[in-house]
Amino acid sequence: MLTLQLSMMYSTIAVVILAEAMLSIAAAPAEGRQIGRFVVGQYTRGGCEIQGLYPHDIMSFDSSEITRRYRLGEQWTERCNNCTCTTAGVMCEGPTDCLHSYDFTQEKWCLEWSADECCCERMGCTVNGEQYDIGERFPYEGGASCLTCSCQIGTTPAQCLLQECGIVELICENRSVTYEDGNCCPNFVCPQGVKCTNIPDPFPNTSNHELLDWYGRLNPIPQGMNQHYHLDSWTSYVCSCPRGGTAECEMRTFGM
Ligand SMILES: *[C@@H]1O[C@H](CO)[C@@H](O)[C@H](O)[C@H]1NC(C)=O
Ligand SMILES: *[C@@H]1O[C@H](CO)[C@@H](O)[C@H](O)[C@H]1NC(C)=O
Ligand SMILES: *[C@@H]1O[C@H](CO)[C@@H](O)[C@H](O)[C@H]1NC(C)=O
Repeated sequence: MLTLQLSMMYSTIAVVILAEAMLSIAAAPAEGRQIGRFVVGQYTRGGCEIQGLYPHDIMSFDSSEITRRYRLGEQWTERCNNCTCTTAGVMCEGPTDCLHSYDFTQEKWCLEWSADECCCERMGCTVNGEQYDIGERFPYEGGASCLTCSCQIGTTPAQCLLQECGIVELICENRSVTYEDGNCCPNFVCPQGVKCTNIPDPFPNTSNHELLDWYGRLNPIPQGMNQHYHLDSWTSYVCSCPRGGTAECEMRTFGM
């Protein structure tokens, strides 16, 4: 397995930072629903890929959860959309009359689905068991009274916007938080910074120089971002940087 990956790697190395893309699947059909035909994903490297990202969420959303890859010719049903991976992209047939056209982020951020489960009818956040609409404010957990969070699609509870203080909470390894006298807004100190500069070697037992050159291209990952290092059509080394410092990586095989 390792040998195969290495030899395939040289021909098709591509380092891809997930670009923002709003490739939405139009939602679902049921009786009486209006059905349309859509292209919702790209054909690339012998398969199809759909990223269900909203453009403004790229900094905070864990995009690895919602990037989907399919083999050419593969067919599937997604929230009442019948989809096929073709060389022209992902072609889907589905409803056109949903309030929000479907994309994969809704699997995480939808609070209410229609009775036929084809359409998301209410988007929002669930934090500590409470539901909030988009834009709705809620208290900062364990924080000072001047701090609030608001529900923004793509914002995790731990990355609340501290609206009263005008800063975004920093999450990082070995963080310290200080409060200046007379000011309830925090200062976050991140000794290791808010990038992941330590990225585990995908092939720790290899001393191949070309590999090391490639390894040298594993650039620091800003916190909250993911990087997908595509080794071949179906294998990626996927690294996330949840807290700065050391990245968390795994080898993923798609479509097998
Ligand atoms: C999807 O496929 C199923 C099964 O073939 C069919 O019953 C349904 O009408 C299709 N839906 C759409 C939106 O084409
Ligand atoms: C965080 O602090 C602990 C204890 O001070 C230390 O052992 C650890 O190496 C630090 N983490 C990083 C990434 O430097
Ligand atoms: C790499 O080497 C370590 C230590 O020698 C060993 O535990 C591990 O199984 C090896 N990994 C692979 C993929 O060969």
